[in-house]
Order: sequence, then structure tokens, then C-alpha cells
Amino acid sequence: MFQQTCIAPVNIAVIKYWGKRDEELILPINDSLSMTLSTDQMCAKTTASASSNFKENVMWLNGEKVAFDENPRSARCLKEIKRIASAKGQPKFPLNLKLHICSENNFPTAAGLASSAAGYACLVYTLACLYGVEDEELTQIARQGSGSACRSLDGGFVHWKKGDNPNGSDSLAHQVISPSSWSNMRVLILVVNDSKKKTSSTKGMRLCVETSELINHRAEKIVPQRIENITKAIKTKNFTDFAEITMKDSNQFHAIALDTFPPCIYMNDVSHSIAEFVHRYNELAGETKVAYTFDAGPNACLYLEEENVAGVVAGLKLAFPNDNAGNVEYVKGIPINGQSYEAYKFKSNGSNLLKYIIHTKIGEGPKRLEEC
Ligand code: DP6
Repeated sequence: MFQQTCIAPVNIAVIKYWGKRDEELILPINDSLSMTLSTDQMCAKTTASASSNFKENVMWLNGEKVAFDENPRSARCLKEIKRIASAKGQPKFPLNLKLHICSENNFPTAAGLASSAAGYACLVYTLACLYGVEDEELTQIARQGSGSACRSLDGGFVHWKKGDNPNGSDSLAHQVISPSSWSNMRVLILVVNDSKKKTSSTKGMRLCVETSELINHRAEKIVPQRIENITKAIKTKNFTDFAEITMKDSNQFHAIALDTFPPCIYMNDVSHSIAEFVHRYNELAGETKVAYTFDAGPNACLYLEEENVAGVVAGLKLAFPNDNAGNVEYVKGIPINGQSYEAYKFKSNGSNLLKYIIHTKIGEGPKRLEEC
């Protein structure tokens, strides 16, 4: 038996990918840019085994058996990896051996927390290691699993260029800066609701391309300039400019989601209160210390530098006082100012309250764990 285990990170976009020009190859209508999160707190983990004893390709996703060959996205990723392995010659083992794949996320699936990005990046990276083709251009393959997955194959800040070729050969992701270049960059994920999201990104963006009158204006007239400006802000570590562009892009993404007919509403009242909190916090501080972004769900992702984490978390506790005094529970994440708790769990039973915070930071790309 041949076996490989790898982990891959989550990435959160600061310039959002929303809309495809080719549904099958997963080619986007605009460039996007994201930050990779540390795998210490959140990651996907995949083990792939090949054996002559296996009768069919089987996958378990978070313990649940799922169709592999019947899922066109995973089947395509495997086909592409095998194509490269065969072209390189001398594959490590016969390419017709069937696979057993086991994949797990250590964070809520499909709650707007980029689980498909980490999941497909991990699948592609693990298969690439198993078949010995990990040095190849893999972002093109991961993209065909889930668009945003191509940005999880590298660490730091990553830019996915939409490309122009109809075959997708130039729709690739590359690193803008390494994690060590902005090592004090931290992230607070404010989990408002960790149940499955209402409209999937795939369905939401398809409907948006079909019905929104604003989406093309965004893709053609707004995003190119934003990519240029945010790249400059990231390279010069200009947090104020970075934060403003990030928040504006999140707002614009939700505006086009709302311009879809029928509308896609991803943010809820708590999400809007969080955005308001961030603007108020920055205003009171007299400078921009924190930025928000929201994906296709109500959970907030706050970007901030390390020295501002304790202040922002204290502010959040005051603004969202639905934890009883002293009712601070350990969840997971990086210790704040050396204190023993690592995150706060807010007392909440309803689905519309701030539930808990994950404290994490900028991180590296996928890693190999073991092979045999
Ligand atoms: C809002 O990559 O999940 O998170 O390509 O259809 O699988 P598919 O969509 P997906 O969309 C992510 C959308 C987003 C923005 C982003 O990550 O850029």
C-alpha cells in the first residue's frame, strides 16, 4: 500500500472571487487576493492510500462516506494529477490502483469558513505527493476543485489571476508576500453561526452572474485597481490602506449578492453590528486598527496586528455582552497577552448571537505529514 497524509490551510479573501466565466473549468470573472491562515488553529487534513486490494475509489469526508468518482470536481482533480504523473514517466506505483481517501476539517464545514478551499487544496496536494508530482503547477488543478482552493496552496498573501485563456492555463495563483514578511498579522474569526450556509457559493455566484446588473461593473472597473492598490499596501505593510480596501471589497461583494435576483443575503444583524463595531472602534482609536471581511455567511473575519488583539477582544466583550460576567471559556487559538485562555465563548443559545472567537494568524501553505 502507498499512503500519504497532508494538511492544508484555510484562506480568507480580502478581494473576493465572485462569478465564473467558465463553470466547468472554474474560471473567474475577476482576480482575487487572500491571506492564508495558520494551520495551527484551522486546517484540512487528508490521507490518501492506493492499494491493489481496493475495489473502487472511496472518500470519507469528516467521517461520512461520499461519492468520489461521481463528484465531477474531485474526479477531475484526480484525473489531472494522474495525467501529470503519467507524462512525467516512471510513476511510483501503477496508476490504475484504486484510492481510499479520508479528509477532515477541524473547523465548521460550509459555514462560510472556507472549508472547501482548504479541503480541495489538501486533496490536490495530498494526491500530488502520493503520485510524486508535488513540484508541478498545482494551483490550476486545485482551482478545478473549488476556485478559492487555488489560493490555499501557498502561505502569506496570495493573488489568483483570473487569466484570459479559455482553457484556463493562465488562471493561476501566486504568493504576494511570505508569512514572515507580515508576521504580526493576526485574525479573529467571530463565529456567529456555524450551521450550513443557506445558498452555496457556487449557486450564489451563478445566480449573481445571471441576474446582477452590478457584477460586471465590479469585475471590470473596480477589482483591477483594488488588486493593484491592496498589493501595494500589503508589500509596504500599510495597515490603514489594507484595511480600507478590505472592508470596501467585503461590502461591495455583499452589495452584488444583494443585487442578485432573488437576493442572496449572507450577513445577518449580528454581522452588521460587528461591522459597525469595527468602524466605531477605529473612530474612537483615532486610527485604523482593525478591518472586517465577510464571506458567503454571517461569520466575521477580523484582520488586525498583534498589538491590537487584546484591545479589540476587550471591546468585543463590551459590545457583545451576552456572556455572563466571568463566563469566559476556552475554545481554541493563540493565547492573548500570555493569558491562559485562548479565546472567548459567549453564552448564547440562539443562532443570532456571537458564539465564539477563534484567534489565529497569517500562515504557511500545505505540509506533508507522513508517507509509507
Ligand atoms: C465568498 O471557491 O467556494 O468565499 O469555485 O464554486 O467552489 P466555487 O466557489 P468558492 O467561492 C468562494 C467565494 C468567497 C470569496 C473568496 O473566497 O474569494
